[in-house]
Amino acid sequence: MNKNFAIFASGNGSNALSLIDHADKANLPLKCLIVDNSESKLVEQFDKIHCPCFLLNMESKKEFESKALEILSQYDVSWIFLAGFMKVLSAQFIRKFYSDDMGVSLIVNIHPSLLPSFKGLNAYERSFKAGVLLYGHTIHFVEENVDTGPYISQFPLVRLKEDDFELFKKRGLFAENSHYPVVMEKLLESNFELKKINDRLTCFLLESEAL
Ligand code: GRF
Repeated sequence: MNKNFAIFASGNGSNALSLIDHADKANLPLKCLIVDNSESKLVEQFDKIHCPCFLLNMESKKEFESKALEILSQYDVSWIFLAGFMKVLSAQFIRKFYSDDMGVSLIVNIHPSLLPSFKGLNAYERSFKAGVLLYGHTIHFVEENVDTGPYISQFPLVRLKEDDFELFKKRGLFAENSHYPVVMEKLLESNFELKKINDRLTCFLLESEAL
């Protein structure tokens, strides 16, 4: 299994850029960036990004997925990291990245809540309004049902007395941007173990070996 990976994004792109930056610094085999929305802030930065960048702004998900598969196979990509990617990928697409060795599809997502709380859209807004004292993000493998796949890592943050929504979200996003690259590298190094706990597959990241 190679470590070639792609990043999919749709929006502001802060997570995509932090993964790209880390890939540059750690010399990781990032093969391409795929953006599905011409309004994404990443599009204007394509010429500064050191990997092939594609805007696949198709009307239908089917068309998007078929073009994306063509590109991914051209670059022999094994792993996909979703970074603020807004499409729900089809079961057929997800199955194409299934690894028999690992027992999961090698597609990873970051969701801005401590799952299983606040699945779906606008999770920071909904957590803030719900008055939670603990929030954060979850990095998980992607399965057919949204925000349900095996959890890989959860990063908790404490709500502060002085937090307004802007600050609450800003600290949340900063934590995402710092943590996602570290988890990505461990996954690419196969530094993890999947274990069934009460029928639920859970992923444990392992400590890196001492140098
Ligand atoms: C992040 O909060 C991510 O977890 C969620 O959408 C937001 C995207 O931010 N899925 P960005 O585009 O990476 O800046």
